[in-house]
Amino acid sequence: MGSNATVTLEVVRTDPAGRNRFEVPVRSAHARVLDALNWIRENEDPTLGFRYACRVGMCGACAVVIDGKEALTCQTALGDVESGTLRVEPLRGLPARHDLIVDMRPFFEGLARAGAALRPREPDRRDLPVLPPDSDERAAIEARNGCITCGACVSAVAGEATSGDGVGPAALNRVLMLALDERDGAGIARLGDIAGEARGLSAEAMARAESVCPARIPLSATLERLKALVADHDDEG
Ligand code: SF4
Ligand code: FES
Repeated sequence: MGSNATVTLEVVRTDPAGRNRFEVPVRSAHARVLDALNWIRENEDPTLGFRYACRVGMCGACAVVIDGKEALTCQTALGDVESGTLRVEPLRGLPARHDLIVDMRPFFEGLARAGAALRPREPDRRDLPVLPPDSDERAAIEARNGCITCGACVSAVAGEATSGDGVGPAALNRVLMLALDERDGAGIARLGDIAGEARGLSAEAMARAESVCPARIPLSATLERLKALVADHDDEG
């Protein structure tokens, strides 16, 4: 883009009377959607609500829906916009509080409902058990590590039958990581708790979630593996 290039941002606001269309200069070939939002707040509308922290794709705070697809504003280049107009909306399936800022509590409540924290199999053990680096379990767990709790996957499956009270793709992924981790002592109980959602969430929805996950977590394979573990669990019960 040349130095006089501009891009138009259409921003979905919580106040329907709020200004929602802004023409923003593109100052650098590396400028991001987050730079455009900051430019609007500094130059046109200081009330525009959006969230960010790290600016380097690590914190997950800046996830929104850009032209219909979940993305991080700090990682989406304005130069990638072909139409010259960009529609920016808050994440779906989470309550919008102020413009692009959503309430993330339902996301974290999903993780809590899934019991997605390690419960040590040997709580009194003093030395740290190590998963062998070359084990299949370790490889499967590491491939699923690195969730930045951005909420993009929950947004991508919003509208699915199970998404209302469901725990969400990130929580299912965490449950699988724990089920594969021999240091955890609650895997079986957790599988029972999430069995309904694992069965009910469609492969298409999970593929959508995977396609927008900035951490590139293999969410489709996660769902398949969870379904298999749940089926084994049912057979054993
Ligand atoms: S699984 Fe991916 S999309 Fe979902 S919250 Fe974690 S990083 Fe975001
Ligand atoms: S600001 Fe942290 S991921 Fe975008």
